[in-house]
Amino acid sequence: MEKDIDLIFNGFFRYKSKRFYAEETAVEDIAKKYGTPCYVYSYHSLLSRIKKFKEAFGGINTLICYSVKANSNLSILKIIKEHGLGVDIVSGGELRRALIARFSPKKIVFAGVGKRDEEIALAIKKNIYCFNIENEEEIALIEKYARKHRRKVICNLRLNLDIDVDTHHYVKTSKKETKFGLDINSASRILKNSRNNRFVEIKGFHLHLGSQLKDVQPYVKALESVKYLCSEINFRPEIIDLGGGFGIPYAPEDKVKDIEDFGVAIKEKIKELGANLLILEPGRYIVGNTAVLLCSVLYVKRRPEKNFVIVDAGMNDLIRPAFYSSYHIILPAKQGRRVNYIKVDIVGPICETGDYLGKDVEVPANIKKGDLLVIGSAGAYCFSMASNYNSRPRPCEIMVKRNRDVVIRKRERYDDLWKGEL
Ligand code: LLP
Repeated sequence: MEKDIDLIFNGFFRYKSKRFYAEETAVEDIAKKYGTPCYVYSYHSLLSRIKKFKEAFGGINTLICYSVKANSNLSILKIIKEHGLGVDIVSGGELRRALIARFSPKKIVFAGVGKRDEEIALAIKKNIYCFNIENEEEIALIEKYARKHRRKVICNLRLNLDIDVDTHHYVKTSKKETKFGLDINSASRILKNSRNNRFVEIKGFHLHLGSQLKDVQPYVKALESVKYLCSEINFRPEIIDLGGGFGIPYAPEDKVKDIEDFGVAIKEKIKELGANLLILEPGRYIVGNTAVLLCSVLYVKRRPEKNFVIVDAGMNDLIRPAFYSSYHIILPAKQGRRVNYIKVDIVGPICETGDYLGKDVEVPANIKKGDLLVIGSAGAYCFSMASNYNSRPRPCEIMVKRNRDVVIRKRERYDDLWKGEL
């Protein structure tokens, strides 16, 4: 229990007098007020992440486009917008969210392997900054709508350079066996064929290697491959969009390179390439460690082989452990006096064996019904991946600013579950 949790939470979530706080608000008070399960965000933690990321990539022409899929809550989007970032979107829904949060279309980039006709049409109508192209047929569609609106649409070709990265195989996106991006031959063909296109202007390349990358080496390697490709096909990219993927610590012992180190190495390679604009699409780095999920103990089941603590949050609320076997730190909201610890699996109420939040977690031996637990690193791909599985309403989301708390998403009600069903 004596882990250095500041390495994860950067001081925005921490124990004070043995009670766990989000900024200056005890999470027990939030649980009492709003119930559990409940997501709690730290406003100042979010600001600090935005600032650090901007600083790391300062000094060159950069457009930082927060990846909406990581967390698409409108209040979070608005804060991110107010601090000057743009957005990376992958659907018509995300486009609409970005517009509601008042992002300038000039700071919206649209990626995704399966853009629908109407999504492309709306994005062109709204005059977004650019598209990241994932296949040859997309060009014809973009041209069709660009012609209709008499616009020249900027596009970057998403390359699949067959680069392996050290992360979970579900989130490696630049290996040739994945569905993402264009191989080098298709990319060169598109470049050649669209040279005189009046409606589509290919300005550069897009790369997204994978998510939760702890080291800068894959980015450097990818940019070196791009440089080689450019000299082979005699093309000077104006734009390089390097995607997201910048990792965060989930455990105090996780070794993740500082964002400053990513910045230094990447900026140097961009300068070598001679590109005028670097686009970045961080998701997890910005929001991942700015939130926790609170849950309450429902039952403690002691068995000779294993002990289980059954809590009121499940894989429908936070799916990452079940889906990617990911680790999230789990801490008691109140630290007891010198107590013994037992190892337990922390599991949810969902009818699936895979429904767990933590395995072999050390908890106080006297853990009991009603105790409050805090699940860390719950800001990215947690609420945004939540579902209503087992007909469970999704949790509320609360934003804490020092000693104040506001609801940024209400808890779903039971009748929200069947709204729209006939
Ligand atoms: N750009 C593109 C094209 C992407 O596909 C992604 C993430 C990002 C940017 C943002 O990546 P980030 O900076 O957040 O790593 N659900 C998984 C992660 C899926 C990532 C999908 N693409 C998880 O919970 O680990």
